Amino acid sequence: MSKSLGAPEVAIVLAAGEGTRMKSQTPKVLHFISGKTILDHVLTQVNKLNPGELRVVVGAGREAVEPHVKQIAPSAVPIFQAERNGTGHAVQLALADLSASGTVLICAGDTPLLRSETLSEFITAHKEAKNIASVLTAELPDPTGYGRIVRDEKGEIVAIVEEREAPEEIKLIDEINTGVYLFDIASLRSSVAKLKADNSQGELYLTDVIADIKAAGGKAAAILSNDYSETLGINDRSQLAECAAIMRDRINYEHMLNGVEIIDPTTTWIDSTVKIAADATIFPESWLAGTTTVGANSIIGPRTTLMNVNVAAGASVIESNCVDCEIGAGAKVGPYSYLRAGTLLGEGAKAGAYVEIKNSKIGEGTKVPHLSYVGDAEIGSGSNIGAATVFVNYDGVEKHKTKIGNEVRIGSDTMLVAPVSIGDGAYTAAGSVITDDVPAGAMGVARSKQRNILGWVLRKRSGTKSAQAAKAAGANESSEQGS
Ligand code: UD1
Ligand code: MG
Repeated sequence: MSKSLGAPEVAIVLAAGEGTRMKSQTPKVLHFISGKTILDHVLTQVNKLNPGELRVVVGAGREAVEPHVKQIAPSAVPIFQAERNGTGHAVQLALADLSASGTVLICAGDTPLLRSETLSEFITAHKEAKNIASVLTAELPDPTGYGRIVRDEKGEIVAIVEEREAPEEIKLIDEINTGVYLFDIASLRSSVAKLKADNSQGELYLTDVIADIKAAGGKAAAILSNDYSETLGINDRSQLAECAAIMRDRINYEHMLNGVEIIDPTTTWIDSTVKIAADATIFPESWLAGTTTVGANSIIGPRTTLMNVNVAAGASVIESNCVDCEIGAGAKVGPYSYLRAGTLLGEGAKAGAYVEIKNSKIGEGTKVPHLSYVGDAEIGSGSNIGAATVFVNYDGVEKHKTKIGNEVRIGSDTMLVAPVSIGDGAYTAAGSVITDDVPAGAMGVARSKQRNILGWVLRKRSGTKSAQAAKAAGANESSEQGS
């Protein structure tokens, strides 16, 4: 790809930190927001700028972080920071064998809300002002924890002071360092070489280069962004949740502008990877995740989870959980159903209340309306599976298949013991345990014949309310059929 005008020669993303405050076994930057890792969000936005070279500093959890970086940005150069001696140290390593000159963009791997448009504006401002160093800043309602921007009486940046090092009067400043910078590479190289770990953490702070560049007569500027929410960094789980909610609102907003009806955007969570057609309606407390796609005029929710599910136009999925499956046009699912991996629900088909289906093809217009388990089956079109039917697919060791033809009527409470097949147009009698194939057009009956033991209640349960009711209905104690 050719480098676009205004693209930085180099971009460095810092992602080596321990993320101690997350208190997690998972590296901080690999936590998820809206279906993508924090780092994926950052790299995606940075890549949109088309930098000449992308370097990602990895360290803590490198075994997991490095392959993830390669997946998202195959051309990125990982830089290994074995010891986390601070953001300044991370940048020293990233510059060590770098031959490029020009402008470098530096940002942290833990600010997933930053948009490439904002970064572009920042680059333009930096270039227009001919700065040696620019830092993107924001005014936060609660600046606690961030580095503060100290300006002089002319309003020019003097230094960045970390919260840990800040005296009380500096803590009162609400303009913070977002951790996004642009530097002239040569000036940065000479400044980071001079960094000292003379702070409470004993680390090299990248933030100290600003004062150094100023002292050397370089032009440095703090550029205030107008949307502080974009610059929020994630250091702990509460910030993870806060950023996730902002990302959720952004995603929902886009869908609504595109014509999707979202009844309650505050309880609707849609991953950034999901596609929804106009005129779909999403009811509250639903989660649409992974590679899910939703067609026009379909109804999703309330309380529905779709994970990697394709829902065709005009379908409805209500109060249900569906994973790795296909729901055909006009099909109906739920309430309270569970469609597992490999379910293919045909056009106009139905998986009604309390139905579990896995690895099965349900033909066009076929209905599984109530309380059934369908596993490893192939069902033709126009068939009806009676209430409480169970596809007995597991013999305790292996799974077996069931094949059902077109226009079949399976009676309620049928056990279909696989492997078994039911021919086109066949019926099964309610309550049957079907162990043998039923040919086309036949009625499969597999249950014992009914007998009535007359007068039993009056003889064996005399004095009960049932006996009284039976007596009132004219029953007597005799086991003989009356005339
Ligand atoms: C940093 C800034 C702070 C700013 C804030 C914005 C410094 C000293 N402070 O603080 O001024 O307000 O970001 O979010 O820079 N990292 C490494 N190697 C290290 C240490 C950190 O790669 O040795 C990476 C981390 O993975 C992270 C980023 O650098 O992605 C920032 O580190 P973090 O520890 O989160 O710094 P903050 O305390 O947030
Ligand atoms: Mg941080």
